[in-house]
Amino acid sequence: MLQGKRILITGAGGGIGQAAAVLAAAEGAQVMIADVNKAGLEETLETMKAAGGNGQMRVTNVTSESDVEGLVADTIAAFDGLDGAYNNAGIEGDWAKTAESSLDNFNRVVSVNQTGVFLCMRAEIQAMLKAGTPGAIVNTASIAGLAGAQYMPAYVASKHGVVGLTASAAMEYARKGIRINCVCPGPIETRMLSSLASNHPRAGDALSASTAMKRLGQPVEIAQAACWLLSDRASYVTGVALPVDGGMIAGP
Ligand SMILES: NC(=O)c1ccc[n+]([C@@H]2O[C@H](COP(=O)([O-])OP(=O)(O)OC[C@H]3O[C@@H](n4cnc5c(N)ncnc54)[C@H](O)[C@@H]3O)[C@@H](O)[C@H]2O)c1
Repeated sequence: MLQGKRILITGAGGGIGQAAAVLAAAEGAQVMIADVNKAGLEETLETMKAAGGNGQMRVTNVTSESDVEGLVADTIAAFDGLDGAYNNAGIEGDWAKTAESSLDNFNRVVSVNQTGVFLCMRAEIQAMLKAGTPGAIVNTASIAGLAGAQYMPAYVASKHGVVGLTASAAMEYARKGIRINCVCPGPIETRMLSSLASNHPRAGDALSASTAMKRLGQPVEIAQAACWLLSDRASYVTGVALPVDGGMIAGP
């Protein structure tokens, strides 16, 4: 599905990003994986290579303008171009109601989840425009980017921001051949979900019960949607916020 594509993936040191990197490599892409977690990146790269995939890694903090610009430059230097990017790095932040939330937590979450996506998209779009070649960008938002969720005001605000950034950039660059979409995962079994469940022991069960399918999702189920959006099979799709959520947002 991604044969010959040169793709960059952030937050690839674990969870959804790791699954996406392994799948993209298996689908034929050359993949640059980025994360703040070096050990996680090494594990992802090993898994990709064991499956016969091709990739490189770069420790990158998506909140840093120079790190992100270096990541895009290194990807182009390594693969001689950039066809696609999956901006997936994110953090959940603290668990607290709005009136009890700290400004520090709010700024930290927005900085990674929203400013990080902005910095990545800006550098990726600049590179694609400069090369004059078509491209596809996918961001990870969340169902928390489509509706409110209690105890996570900064997270919800940042993910609504990702949906807005995605739609705006999609309109701006559609005629340049750059498609920009986001996936909105429901509850997916990763470190992030375990961390949330640790705040409320029944959170995992409650989240699972709130989906129409009555189960949590697996990282590869988000990876499949992201890889499809990155591929030419999604050639007429841009500006969408695609729920991949076991029917959670479809109704009560
Ligand atoms: N797990 C879920 O239920 C769920 C639901 C909706 C959306 N999401 C989103 O999916 C994405 C992936 O999350 P996950 O569930 O795989 O969690 P995860 O914690 O396993 O993965 C997130 C990755 O992002 C990396 N990261 C964090 N801050 C970074 C930074 N500043 N720069 C670079 N990398 C950084 C982490 O090191 C980690 O490897 C996130 O954007 C998250 O908000 C997850």
